Amino acid sequence: MNYDIALIGLAVMGQNLILNMNDKGYKVVAYNRTVSVTQDFLNGPAKDTNIVGAESYEAMVGMLSKPRKIMLMVKAGDAVDAVIDELLPLLDEGDVIIDGGNANYPDSQRRSIDLKAKGIRFIGSGISGGEEGARFGPSIMPGGNPEAWPLVKDILQDISAKTKDGQPCCDWVGSDGAGHFVKMVHNGIEYGDMQLIGEAYHFMKDLLKMDNAAMQAVFAKWNKGDLESYLIEITADILNFKEDGEYVVDRIVDKAGQKGTGKWTAINALDFGIPVTLIGEAVFARSLSALKDERVVASGILQAPPAVDLSAEQAEFVEALGDALLASKMVSYAQGFMLMREASEQFNWDLQYGAIAQLWRQGCIIRSVFLDDIKRAYDRSPELDSLLIDEYFCGKVGEAQAGWRKVLAKAIEVGIPTPAMSAALAFYDGYRTANLPANLLQAQRDYFGAHTYERTDRPAGERFHSNWTGAGGDVPSSSYDA
Ligand code: 2AM
Repeated sequence: MNYDIALIGLAVMGQNLILNMNDKGYKVVAYNRTVSVTQDFLNGPAKDTNIVGAESYEAMVGMLSKPRKIMLMVKAGDAVDAVIDELLPLLDEGDVIIDGGNANYPDSQRRSIDLKAKGIRFIGSGISGGEEGARFGPSIMPGGNPEAWPLVKDILQDISAKTKDGQPCCDWVGSDGAGHFVKMVHNGIEYGDMQLIGEAYHFMKDLLKMDNAAMQAVFAKWNKGDLESYLIEITADILNFKEDGEYVVDRIVDKAGQKGTGKWTAINALDFGIPVTLIGEAVFARSLSALKDERVVASGILQAPPAVDLSAEQAEFVEALGDALLASKMVSYAQGFMLMREASEQFNWDLQYGAIAQLWRQGCIIRSVFLDDIKRAYDRSPELDSLLIDEYFCGKVGEAQAGWRKVLAKAIEVGIPTPAMSAALAFYDGYRTANLPANLLQAQRDYFGAHTYERTDRPAGERFHSNWTGAGGDVPSSSYDA
């Protein structure tokens, strides 16, 4: 038999990817553990297409041309390992398994290495864009065994979203877990973008006393400039949306859910020691929002600063908010790319940052014109230490900083929480400061723990210890095992 690819797992993402592949002329075998789901798919959305079903892994494997290509869209975690274990006895050397689910990247690293030893070529691929993206063109971030890439490149690029000039939003990211790592950072950045938009909304709603129509107009306007993006666009739509004559957004409980990829990004930032502060704050802001009952109690107990009426200055604050959003977003992406750079160095992934910006340009949730600016920055300088020091970003943040500071100063004065925007500014001010107070901190560490310090007037790497109290002795902590 000569089917091009099989896809296991017919939840909505799996079904839509199959339909997308079928549209592009590929012959796909559909499989689902629960057979009735396969039947419903074949009799429903897949009716009158070239898609066929298989009721066993044996039948599915027998229908594929070699080397076989099998894509998994099953629940992330143990199910992926279970399916791979069942497939292995049926496969031949050189066959390709693609996990398109939301794997945590260390799982993809492990699977890539284990399967290579068994002669199977593994790809762990992040896929973003939700149901609609899967159906009509997602952003696809494949990593894993590089030998597998030429075998699946056409099909994955054909089904992916395309940039305006026709470039696929799908390219090889790097070896073992690189694809799922980049997808994780994408999701973390998505958390940050959403939190920033939420803070701007809060400021306009509670402080500038703007109604939904007025805020909708602001987001629609922002969507025509540097901030143009899918998330700004849908925010404008959401603010406009009514059911039974009422705005739906005003009826939604303010408790945020989360599935974990933002948290993974923050955990990795801590593990790698990279200050991805904005995403961390975005995750914590969701956690704080979820403490609704406690917040309601505290709102009747804790003192607020005196109320301020800013309605007379609405226009200038809206303008400043746009600056605050843009500058904060620039910091957030700079932080996300710093995290990728660190992982790339530690795992030898050789990530191409401009190409990653292009992968995210269309199809995914964080798609925006801004990603073109990031791509251009890395085209100018592929080894850029930080996006913030690129000439374009440096100039833009510089222009935006007066508005950014104005908004945050006011938010702090009147008590509107802006954790992500404030974290961004604290990072910006820290990053552009040549001399931070860590000299004092090092002194404290040496005082109580003999942890030693470097001196400004001596070569880097030379360690010193002081006898701060006259009683502690001259032995640094590195000289003994305490
Ligand atoms: P199901 O319809 O039989 O539950 C999302 O949960 C998808 O993953 C579904 O298609 C589901 O199949 C599939 N899935 C979950 N665990 C699985 C497993 N252990 N083996 C095969 N498919 C699994």
